[in-house]
Amino acid sequence: EPALPVFSQAEVSKHGSLEAGVWVTFRGGVYDITEFVAMHPGGDKILLAAGGALEPFWALYAVHSQDHVLDILSEYKVGEL
Ligand code: HEM
Repeated sequence: EPALPVFSQAEVSKHGSLEAGVWVTFRGGVYDITEFVAMHPGGDKILLAAGGALEPFWALYAVHSQDHVLDILSEYKVGEL
């Protein structure tokens, strides 16, 4: 598979709203989750992570520590940090 592009944190930070697109990072990957926001079981809380890292939020909400959650996230990968 072709390599995904590398993005800076500054570029990721520009994608912090539904208008600009919602990007997040997780373990060195960059994800465009704009389309997933409306499907999130935890509702709009997901927007707290917009433009930044998921790790601090997922440390608080352990419901995400499941393979099926990582499977969902992997569908939205657009690059590397
Ligand atoms: C629940 C995915 C980000 C808060 C869930 C569930 C999934 C999911 C699949 C249901 C898990 C289950 O019950 O088995 C995601 C993905 C995220 C994300 C893919 C990022 C791309 C966040 C963030 C927060 C959050 C950043 C908080 C700031 C919650 C809460 C629930 C939840 C509170 C429990 C909802 C309930 O059962 O009432 N999330 N989540 N999520 N999420 Fe997220």
